[in-house]
Amino acid sequence: MIDFAKLSSKYDTPLYLYDFDDITKNYNELKEAFTARKSLFCYAVKANSNLSVLKHLATLGAGCDCVSIGEVKRALIAGVQSYKIIFSGVGKKDAEIEEALEKKILMINLESEEEMCRVEQIADRINCEARISIRVNPNIDPKTHPYISTGLHENKFGVDIEVAKKMYLYAAKSKSLNPIGIHFHIGSQITQTLPFKEASQVISSLLKSLHAANIDIKFFDVGGGIGIKYKDEETISLYEYAQNIFESLSGEDVTVVCEPGRFLVGNSGYLVTKVLYEKKNDKKRFVIVDAAMNDLLRPSLYKAYHGFELIDAKDDEEKSLADIVGPICESGDFLAKDIYIPQTKHDDIIVIKSAGAYGFTMSSNYNTRPRAAEVALSGGKDRLIRKRETIEDLVEQEIEYL
Ligand code: LLP
Repeated sequence: MIDFAKLSSKYDTPLYLYDFDDITKNYNELKEAFTARKSLFCYAVKANSNLSVLKHLATLGAGCDCVSIGEVKRALIAGVQSYKIIFSGVGKKDAEIEEALEKKILMINLESEEEMCRVEQIADRINCEARISIRVNPNIDPKTHPYISTGLHENKFGVDIEVAKKMYLYAAKSKSLNPIGIHFHIGSQITQTLPFKEASQVISSLLKSLHAANIDIKFFDVGGGIGIKYKDEETISLYEYAQNIFESLSGEDVTVVCEPGRFLVGNSGYLVTKVLYEKKNDKKRFVIVDAAMNDLLRPSLYKAYHGFELIDAKDDEEKSLADIVGPICESGDFLAKDIYIPQTKHDDIIVIKSAGAYGFTMSSNYNTRPRAAEVALSGGKDRLIRKRETIEDLVEQEIEYL
């Protein structure tokens, strides 16, 4: 049992808490499902990029999937081995590509033909070999929120199969490109097995044709996207998920790479906030708290549901309809909408659940609000892993304002 009241008086609110033992449990569960094959878990840094989280996962054996050179550097600072780092993203800058090559990461995941030429030129110029994979868009509907769906042709990600084939043939002949991986990622928060299965089948048949053409692809990267329970979603069986991938690969000798983000950290994180006031008009009741959309954007951006708990509320207390809202000057600033909650008072604690993924990483300083502190819980102990920002931190970069 986490003592939210004690922790919020020790660290103040709004506060992000991450249960590292729970992250370990999730990691081991996934690893277990993949034991039948060579596998590598490259944690999607964008989900939660705190250095202590990365270090914790690195200690468990994880690599990292990064989408900027900043994320690559974070992973390296946290002690992730360079040969377990993948660099993806539709728009990499030249300087980012060059640095990634210099840092000798496992592979750069290409998302267009133009990018391939760019990587080739840069590798030529600095006289090194670029290990690459290609992100293939299998045109499969992941049946998730449109903003987090990525594997359809209407999305900007990856290249079509025909283009990918052409790229592999070119890369295989290039003296500075070494195609070692094939990649797909169809979306996030996926709660059905079928889209993953279909995508694996489509991409593995491309893999087989590449192997037949003597292109030695060693890594079959199935991306991330495993959904978690926020409310009453069904979640997939990890065993079935892994088995489907293995079946699609049949005899091909490859290491399966998986890039989980949300699954590893989502339900291990909490956003702890305090009630400031309550107010009511003829239409609505509002519980105004000290966390806001700048701390957790998901409800405002995707209308995402996050479970919550009013700490110390009695089971038999009468509940009524309300929105939990923050202090930001936007009507879209809410953490929960039309939920039932007992009457609250100043300083009551509300815990917003499932906030470990895409919580702090998507937070901002909107309304000049310093970002929350982050605390790790492990083995019954708590430790500060990111200090609360101060106003001084926020204005530090602003020069020549006189
Ligand atoms: N690999 C690639 C190439 C990705 O683009 C992503 C997520 C992942 C792996 C990890 O996906 P996950 O296992 O976490 O589903 N901000 C949104 C989620 C955006 C996901 C972007 N890509 C949200 O809050 O729901």
